[in-house]
Amino acid sequence: MAKEDTSEFQANQKIHRTVKLVVTLALLLLFFVVGSKAQKDAARAGGETSSASPTANPSSGKNSCLECHQAMGDQLAAPIAAMAEDIHGKRGLSCANCHGGDPTADDPTQAMNPGKGFVARPKPAEVARFCGKCHSNAETMKRFNPAQRIDQESEYSSSVHGKRIKQGDTKPATCISCHGHHGIRAVSDPQAPVYPLNVAQTCGGCHANTDYMRAYGIPTDQLQKYSQSVHANALLKKRDLSAPTCNDCHGNHGATPPGVGSVSNVCGTCHARQAELFEKSPHQAPFAAAAMAGCVVCHNNHQILLPSDEMLGSGATAVCSTCHTEDAGAQGAQKMRGLIEELNHHIHQTEGLLTQASIAGMEVSRPIFELKEARDKLINARVIVHNFSPNAIETAINQGLEITGKAHQAGQEALNEMQFRRKGLATSLLVILLAIAAIYLKIRQLERH
Ligand code: HEC
Ligand code: HEC
Ligand code: HEC
Ligand code: HEC
Ligand code: HEC
Ligand code: HEC
Ligand code: HEC
Ligand code: HEC
Ligand code: HEC
Repeated sequence: MAKEDTSEFQANQKIHRTVKLVVTLALLLLFFVVGSKAQKDAARAGGETSSASPTANPSSGKNSCLECHQAMGDQLAAPIAAMAEDIHGKRGLSCANCHGGDPTADDPTQAMNPGKGFVARPKPAEVARFCGKCHSNAETMKRFNPAQRIDQESEYSSSVHGKRIKQGDTKPATCISCHGHHGIRAVSDPQAPVYPLNVAQTCGGCHANTDYMRAYGIPTDQLQKYSQSVHANALLKKRDLSAPTCNDCHGNHGATPPGVGSVSNVCGTCHARQAELFEKSPHQAPFAAAAMAGCVVCHNNHQILLPSDEMLGSGATAVCSTCHTEDAGAQGAQKMRGLIEELNHHIHQTEGLLTQASIAGMEVSRPIFELKEARDKLINARVIVHNFSPNAIETAINQGLEITGKAHQAGQEALNEMQFRRKGLATSLLVILLAIAAIYLKIRQLERH
């Protein structure tokens, strides 16, 4: 038995080693194929993009930029290390693909010759073109990733940032203010400055800096207000990536405040039902005529707080009171608030009743389940608020009240049943006690005899 075991073991070892060898060979092969493809892609990107440097030929393997800068050390070598983390470096692109020049020349004046397209530091107004020579080029980008967009430069040019930069202002954002320059990361990389969780800080770097923004006379509280919002709470605390940060409302490269007309569209891309109801509401026309931005009028733009029933009605905390006092709107608001509170009250009351019955051991799981549906109706009614029609709310609330009514009745019946059983139990106990007493007396009587 022991001998058989060892030979089997040896055979297994042999198979193991063969498999290992084959896997290693396959991996090596894959490595070479991918490596040479990246090199070819890089060569093609280089040849095409630095058209001003026709002699650039990275595929020869010569890269004097790297060799010399590595030897220089310090600041001049720093980009080399940074490129290891850079998406361009990972795609096989190197210094000359961005900076131009001639990476086959050892002589620095030749290698870094502006005549060969060399650009050391693009001026703010030149950055978009510097990056756009590849990013706006469908041919170049398709070779690396067919799904990559090529509209960043054009979108940027039409943005407030791009327009101001073009006018000679150097303060607004360029591509490298938001993405960095060496060590640019894929947008899906959690360490990228444009990764959803980091965007607010990236934009806030300028927009929350009062000194930097002083000349423009626009508010600098967007980051602070956004940080207090339900959206920041969902995104940054709950890590819910479907919640918006700056670029989801302003566009990645558009950077324009959404126009008054399009604000409800911006919110509506995610809150479709509220937007749809608002469009059909009595507010749509007067808000549009007064150039008031739909959702933002009641919810704010950056400091969107958790809504509550308090926002509704004609009290001091109600947003409605800013426009409605003693008119049909105020009456409507009051009625809507009353209806929502009525259902809310009934749900709580019924909940209490059913809990009581359940603790007493009565079977009430069905009405408890049905009450969930009433809660859904309440949530739905808070959405229907956006129709700003008291009648629509009434319909929604009545459905909830009907369900609550039935559940309440079931709870009441259960409690009645319990009372009945308790009374029955007490009666039978009494009868038993009386019987015991009678028997006891009888026994005493017999004993005395
Ligand atoms: C033989 C050495 C050598 C070679 C080859 C070389 N560089 Fe340089 N590079 C330098 C030195 C030295 C400096 C700093 C002095 C200066 O600005 O000229 C420098 C500066 C730079 C700067 C910064 C300029 C600034 O304004 O701060 C950039 C960008 C640059 N090199 C890119 C490249 C690229 C791209 C290549 C290849 C196409 C390249 N270098 C090839 C030596 C070299
Ligand atoms: C994705 C494009 C890109 C690549 C690739 C790239 N650079 Fe740069 N580099 C830039 C930009 C843009 C600037 C200007 C930054 C600024 O103005 O703040 C710059 C600036 C520099 C500077 C000036 C000092 C500094 O760090 O800001 C040096 C030196 C430099 N690059 C060298 C290199 C070397 C060497 C490589 C290759 C290892 C390289 N670059 C690769 C875009 C690139
Ligand atoms: C105001 C900041 C900002 C500026 C300026 C900016 N970007 Fe972006 N960029 C972003 C954000 C934010 C994203 C999106 C991240 C995401 O999708 O979650 C992005 C995404 C990208 C992407 C990924 C593909 C895409 O379009 O979503 C590329 C490529 C890109 N930017 C290149 C550029 C280039 C080139 C420029 C200059 C013409 C530029 N960016 C200017 C903030 C900026
Ligand atoms: C030589 C051509 C070239 C130049 C110049 C260039 N890029 Fe790129 N860039 C690429 C390629 C190729 C990719 C990889 C695309 C991919 O694989 O999806 C890329 C990727 C990116 C990404 C990540 C996109 C994503 O989907 O995650 C960003 C951000 C970016 N580049 C920004 C810049 C900025 C900013 C500049 C200018 C400083 C610049 N690029 C200059 C070719 C270039
Ligand atoms: C490098 C600094 C800088 C960065 C980073 C930056 N911005 Fe700006 N932004 C500016 C400056 C400067 C203006 C011009 C202000 C003006 O003209 O009113 C501006 C203008 C704007 C405007 C138009 C404001 C108006 O009504 O005039 C919006 C919207 C905007 N930025 C959003 C963003 C967003 C979103 C981000 C991040 C994705 C961002 N910005 C990143 C500097 C920056
Ligand atoms: C939920 C959508 C949304 C988000 C998230 C958002 N904004 Fe805005 N932002 C708006 C709207 C809407 C306006 C226009 C306000 C108006 O017209 O009443 C605006 C206006 C602006 C303006 C113009 C000046 C001002 O304050 O009115 C700047 C600058 C700006 N936002 C920057 C930012 C920055 C930076 C962030 C991230 C920290 C951000 N926004 C996040 C919707 C948003
Ligand atoms: C990119 C999608 C997106 C955009 C754009 C967006 N939101 Fe939101 N919103 C969300 C998400 C996700 C939540 C969080 C839901 C949660 O966690 O309860 C949320 C939460 C809210 C809430 C709180 C809801 C609740 O019951 O807790 C309000 C109010 C709100 N958003 C209003 C707006 C307004 C107004 C705008 C436009 C200025 C807007 N949103 C733009 C996705 C978005
Ligand atoms: C920015 C101002 C403003 C705010 C805030 C506002 N409304 Fe209105 N509302 C109007 C205007 C303008 C009209 C159309 C003219 C009118 O009937 O008074 C209107 C009409 C109405 C109507 C139709 C009244 C009718 O004539 O039948 C109702 C109902 C209504 N609003 C409810 C509300 C409720 C509920 C709120 C709070 C959640 C609210 N409104 C907040 C401005 C506002
Ligand atoms: C006239 C004021 C007003 C306008 C305009 C308005 N809302 Fe509301 N919104 C409210 C009130 C009031 C509540 C709270 C209802 C409650 O809890 O009783 C609310 C609640 C919400 C909620 C959380 C409850 C729910 O519906 O699920 C979201 C999300 C929301 N609004 C989004 C929007 C969006 C998106 C727009 C624009 C299309 C918008 N609101 C326009 C007043 C308004």
